[in-house]
Amino acid sequence: MLKDNSLKDKIIIVTGGGTGLGKAMSKVFLQLGAKVCITSRKLEVLKATAEELNKETGGEIFYTQCDIRNYEEVESMMSKVIERFGSFNVLVNNAAGNFISPTERLSHRAFDVVVDIVLKGSYNCTLAAGKYWIDNKIKGTVLSILTTYAFTGSAFVVPSACGKAGAFAMTQSLAVEWGKYGIRLNAIAPGAFESEGAWSRLLPGELMQQYNPAKFNSLGRFGEHSELTNLACYLVSDFSSFITGEMIVIDGGQWLKGAGQFSMLGDIPNEKWDEVSALSKKGKSS
Ligand code: HXC
Ligand code: NAP
Repeated sequence: MLKDNSLKDKIIIVTGGGTGLGKAMSKVFLQLGAKVCITSRKLEVLKATAEELNKETGGEIFYTQCDIRNYEEVESMMSKVIERFGSFNVLVNNAAGNFISPTERLSHRAFDVVVDIVLKGSYNCTLAAGKYWIDNKIKGTVLSILTTYAFTGSAFVVPSACGKAGAFAMTQSLAVEWGKYGIRLNAIAPGAFESEGAWSRLLPGELMQQYNPAKFNSLGRFGEHSELTNLACYLVSDFSSFITGEMIVIDGGQWLKGAGQFSMLGDIPNEKWDEVSALSKKGKSS
């Protein structure tokens, strides 16, 4: 979507950049001239992705291990990025942990593990980046990958909903507080985008057939990775320099379809509508 070299002044840290949507965003950031660091827990995955993306794009990519739940590891990861690239000015909070479960079946450790990755991991990275940017007068940008249930809530993924809602509150709060430093914070709320990491945990086995999320949005399909990466590139670029504190939904009309009182009538075939209209005009139930 953007012109070549649109991100040439950007040095971007992508948490969870070795897989799924983080990998897809990292590839396009590189294609647009950014320098990118991908980071997560699994070094082998990061190494393979960095080699693949470097080969495909010719871009400058660095990888380093970090468990974002641990603040000291986050600071150390950022120091390594600064050592390698001289600085950084974009943080993409993309890493997440999630699984489906009735909440009453969860142990408190299961609740902790998801909230620790999603919320604590995001605030650890945002806090460390913000301190560095403010001390060094860098007008940085944070982009957090959240989801629509950050504002609707969702049954069966309650720890994730708590974590995403907290990260959304952080985005709005710091957009105001750090605006005076020229730091922007925004978020994306994706609907269903194919990724092994997400759907193997959220709709395992037969559940994917039965509850295929593509059936539950207005456009009747998964999002394409390029649709998400275009939006991410715009939000980390200077083209969006007056946008801060926003969460942009990209879900093919999924949450609206779930909320609308009569959305289920989309199942009525077009040829049946003459009959339905006639009954409706008469005000009869059958
Ligand atoms: C119930 C579970 C569980 C499950 C783990 N636990 N998986 N409980 N159902 N499916 C419990 C364990 O029994 C343990 O509690 C505690 O959680 C910690 O488990 P560990 O396996 O030790 O945790 P860890 O190795 O740190 O792995 C973290 C993880 C794992 C979150 C459980 O799935 C992971 O690494 N995920 C990272 C990638 C990911 O989740 N990607 C999907 C993002 S998709 P006890 O009490 O037994 O000690 C996403 C989409 C959002 O966010 C929106 C979609 C529309
Ligand atoms: P994914 O491939 O499973 O990505 C999650 C990433 O987070 C992995 O690379 C994982 O790497 C990393 N991670 C997990 N715990 C970590 C930790 N403690 N420290 C550092 N990194 C950690 O899933 P995805 O679908 O691409 O998800 C990416 C983002 O999009 C997430 O924020 C997710 O909530 C959001 N999202 C996805 C969808 C969708 O349809 N796919 C919809 C809405 C929102 P390691 O295991 O190596 O640590």
